Amino acid sequence: MQRGINRPAAQCGDKTTRMLTEETAKHAEKRVYVKSYGCQMNVYDAERMTDILDKEGYRPTERVEDADLVILNTCHIREKAAEKVYSELGRIRELKAERLAAGLSTRVVVAGCVAQAEGKEILRRAPAVDVVVGPQSYQNLPALLARAEKSRVIDTEFPVDDKFDALPAPTQARIQSRGVSAFVTVQEGCDKFCTFCVVPYTRGAEVSRPVAAVLAEVERLAQSGVREVTLLGQNVNAYHGLDASGATVNLAGLIVAIASVPGIARIRYTTSHPLDMDPSLAEAHRTIPALMPYLHLPVQSGSDRILAAMNRNHTVADYLRALDHIRSLRPDTVFTSDFIVGFPGETDEDFAATLRLVETVVYASAYSFKYSPRPGTPAADLPDQVPESVKDERLQALQAVITRQQRAFQESQIGQIVDVLVEKPGRRPGQMAGKTPHLLATAFDAPADLIGQIVSVEITAALTNSLIGRLHQPVRKSA
Ligand code: SAH
Ligand code: SF4
Ligand code: F3S
Repeated sequence: MQRGINRPAAQCGDKTTRMLTEETAKHAEKRVYVKSYGCQMNVYDAERMTDILDKEGYRPTERVEDADLVILNTCHIREKAAEKVYSELGRIRELKAERLAAGLSTRVVVAGCVAQAEGKEILRRAPAVDVVVGPQSYQNLPALLARAEKSRVIDTEFPVDDKFDALPAPTQARIQSRGVSAFVTVQEGCDKFCTFCVVPYTRGAEVSRPVAAVLAEVERLAQSGVREVTLLGQNVNAYHGLDASGATVNLAGLIVAIASVPGIARIRYTTSHPLDMDPSLAEAHRTIPALMPYLHLPVQSGSDRILAAMNRNHTVADYLRALDHIRSLRPDTVFTSDFIVGFPGETDEDFAATLRLVETVVYASAYSFKYSPRPGTPAADLPDQVPESVKDERLQALQAVITRQQRAFQESQIGQIVDVLVEKPGRRPGQMAGKTPHLLATAFDAPADLIGQIVSVEITAALTNSLIGRLHQPVRKSA
């Protein structure tokens, strides 16, 4: 499954052939290889880093062995995610040595949330690393790389200036190469301090970008062919940006403004917190057709006792009320969530309550994770940690229910005629692929000039992770 704020990013270059071709040695242009772990905001940040480095003469490469500059954009959310970075750095150290033997230098940058959380530790454990830069400082990359010529550098400051002001606009060609669906960070950081979570420490306090800055970015994307924007924030529905008159605008207001940008046909937002589902946002689901009928609203647990221990500040009943309200305003809305099993003190009864909640809501899909104690977070110090074997059992049981619901949802699409935003060629020749309003990947035979159009597709089959359909006549082409 490839959805949600914390979806896994692209596979790393672990199977890379370490052959340094003559061609590699000869190319004059500098190359940058960026690998992102963790959430969609990291994907967005990786694009911004590529844009900054464009100006410095670096062109992106998919081949780590060709890279003069390697950037690992890291995630600290669970222990496994953080540890992956060190094993990848071990491989990069060998690669760096091989390239050096061939007369090529390689700079290695660790960016993202592990950089923020473990900056000094990275420099100590990974000798290959030249620069450590946190998520709030990557606009300084060119200066940091220049300083790294002399010695290893670390920048994990939370600057007072708006990072986004310092980021260059991507070129039209670069936007087009990224496709018709784009991420736009509108809010960053978190003030909620759930007791299990590192994000408030790695991303800092909640900051919202001004409305005009977001609109300018969306307009530029739309002028280069982008049709769908996903507004990103660790707590995106806590958005409170300023407009030109200095008044505060909430997420609903921002969505209304974005919906009027010519070319933008679809708007999504992620990740939301149940506490910030205010009435105006729910109302936007009813009144803004471009706002897709899909809501990722993580609940984490179905037990009030555990929700309180997690510092989520709402009950299961509050959550269900929020979902019901959206459903009453926009009945075709589907819901997805994140769950944590084995939070300290979680009993069989607590876990049974989570299963009951899942059966009550009926999700289109959901992520579930075993609780991972994170250094510096309050829950890591709680006494009654749940044994790994119990977490394993609970995860399996929960995933069985979620998979069943996901499958049922996909199968319910068979025979329906749905709007698909055509994104790219499909796997098979002659096939195109895109997404339905409910974010289901769909493949169907169609001409390539449909990319960027919204077409009617009749769904004929449901595979494990995608739907198959055929163009429905007449094909409704959007402007
Ligand atoms: N801001 C979002 C979530 C960001 S982190 C929210 O409030 O829901 C993405 C998901 O990772 C979380 O929803 C949670 O399910 C999971 N997660 C966060 N910390 C975790 C931890 N310590 N162990 C296991 N899963 C965790
Ligand atoms: Fe983490 Fe909670 Fe903030 Fe989400 S709301 S980022 S889970 S602290
Ligand atoms: Fe991971 Fe940081 Fe995102 S910890 S989930 S990359 S905000």
